[in-house]
Amino acid sequence: MQDFTDKVAVISGGVNGIGFDIAKALAAEKCHVVIADLDQEACDAAAAEIAAMGVSAIGRKCDVTQETDIKALADAAWAEFGHVDLLFNNAGVGAGLVSSPKMDDADLRWIFEVNFFGNWNMCMEFLRRFKDQDSEAHICNTASENSIGWPMPRMAGYNASKAAVLGYTGMLRMELPAHISVSLLCPGWTQTDIGNSGTRRQAKFGGPKPPRPSFPMDGDFFPYAVETVGAHTLAEIKKGSFYIFPHYAARHLAEERNDEIIAAFDAQTSASADWQKHDTRSFFESLQAARDKKE
Ligand SMILES: NC(=O)c1ccc[n+]([C@@H]2O[C@H](COP(=O)([O-])OP(=O)(O)OC[C@H]3O[C@@H](n4cnc5c(N)ncnc54)[C@H](O)[C@@H]3O)[C@@H](O)[C@H]2O)c1
Repeated sequence: MQDFTDKVAVISGGVNGIGFDIAKALAAEKCHVVIADLDQEACDAAAAEIAAMGVSAIGRKCDVTQETDIKALADAAWAEFGHVDLLFNNAGVGAGLVSSPKMDDADLRWIFEVNFFGNWNMCMEFLRRFKDQDSEAHICNTASENSIGWPMPRMAGYNASKAAVLGYTGMLRMELPAHISVSLLCPGWTQTDIGNSGTRRQAKFGGPKPPRPSFPMDGDFFPYAVETVGAHTLAEIKKGSFYIFPHYAARHLAEERNDEIIAAFDAQTSASADWQKHDTRSFFESLQAARDKKE
């Protein structure tokens, strides 16, 4: 997608942090916005701030772990604007640093319900509608540097949920019709309200937790500021990038992981004369070609 003017974007987790920065970047490019998040008042306040930038914006309470909320959000967006062109599938939570054996089962299920099932259910609802709408559309799934680089210790649930988003989004790329594109936003460590995700944990997942102090920005290590993430993301969508990396710091972690994988292949396997007969991608492509021929 090359131009966002007069397009309509839905952003989950849009009242804070990365989602809100994407909303501001979209408004700067004259794109209309639907802000979806857990609290209606916060959605309205965020939408008012975006509308003040000269575009149409509405706020809609939507808990991405509730399929009825997701459908109602999509209905409201299409009813208000007549079309939707972009989904920023961004809502996400973290549960802080906990060693794996001590990981609370309620937290693990909450993280997966929001970060994976919420992301998946939003994606499928909008995908079905984008297919029917039959015009150019884009889905940007927010994953993390933890999806592709170093799985940060003591974040088992978060790492696993973000790896799951990478896993299914990478596959979608090959399944989607030509008019729908997809990207994977992998931010580095970013200054947002994610440390306070627990304060908004819903009753069905165990209820709210106490707030945590915000991270000091003047020590030896500190997060990136959020302010460039939205504009960077839009620029990469325009270029057709699948992986969107707003930050440099995880590059060496991704390199180390990929080098280790290739070194393990090289140390443990060798190419047989018929290895291509066992190549699952080529196998899939031949099945697809046969199916296309039949249709
Ligand atoms: N901040 C980071 O360091 C970082 C790094 C990599 C990836 N991310 C990812 O970026 C995305 C945005 O996070 P952020 O850092 O801006 O955090 P944030 O807490 O500032 O924003 C996340 C928003 O998601 C909303 N949300 C939580 N559960 C929800 C639900 N069930 N339904 C709808 N909305 C819900 C929250 O209310 C909040 O407004 C997340 O997917 C997060 O995992 C963040």
